[in-house]
Amino acid sequence: MSAARATPGHAWDTTARVLHWLVAVLILVQFALGWMAVSWHLSPAKLDLFVWHKSTGMLILALVLLRLSWRAAITAPPLPAAMPHWEQFAARASHGLLYVLMLAMPLSGWVLNSAAGVPFRIFRILPLPAITAPDRQVEHWASRVHLGLWIVLAVLLVLHIGAALRHHFILRDGVLLGMLTDKGAS
Ligand code: HEM
Ligand code: HEM
Repeated sequence: MSAARATPGHAWDTTARVLHWLVAVLILVQFALGWMAVSWHLSPAKLDLFVWHKSTGMLILALVLLRLSWRAAITAPPLPAAMPHWEQFAARASHGLLYVLMLAMPLSGWVLNSAAGVPFRIFRILPLPAITAPDRQVEHWASRVHLGLWIVLAVLLVLHIGAALRHHFILRDGVLLGMLTDKGAS
């Protein structure tokens, strides 16, 4: 079985790659932190988990804004020409949705925290301003939205990772290599 080969000109630049993998790792850590923070019994450790969860979430928000600005400034590598149109559309649509979710997750968390009226310092240093007044009803809905969005994000990530593995092991078109190395850059 021959190894996947990068398509010429397909590689992402170093900044885009570093931001992709940094945010990817933080999102996966964030799922675990959120899950643990919600399911553990009330204890000082549980409160610490929430501090880490909310702080990491705000860090992700900042990194995603940086990533989107970078994305707007560069020319994204073209998808392989052999990809059918519907697949190219599906790839672009799912990437767009991933960006929307990467913004909506921390924003809904921020609304949730503000509506709960909990004063909070990011990494115990930077005070997080409230973006809504304390309100039980808003807190309730923000909590449901936060939970619902994470289920959608988790499903989409399974498809995203599956698609990346299909490109690498079945189609062998270098799409994954283009996000891992600078091979294929023209
Ligand atoms: C093991 C995990 C992951 C793998 C193997 C992976 C793989 C890839 C690959 C190969 C691309 C490039 C597609 C192309 O060249 O058109 C890509 C793009 C992208 N990935 Fe991932 N990814 C992973 C995790 C994540 C996570 C956790 C997120 C965020 C929630 C994410 C969000 C994105 C977005 C938004 C793009 C589109 C980039 C753009 O067009 O600006 N990925 N990913
Ligand atoms: C990319 C960013 C984020 C992701 C992926 C994420 C993910 C999660 C997950 C998976 C849970 C557990 C849900 C459950 O099992 O019930 C959760 C809960 C929670 N998150 Fe986040 N979160 C993010 C950002 C934030 C931010 C920025 C804040 C606050 C500033 C926040 C505040 C909370 C709170 C308060 C809960 C508990 C929810 C409740 O009691 O109903 N999250 N989050």
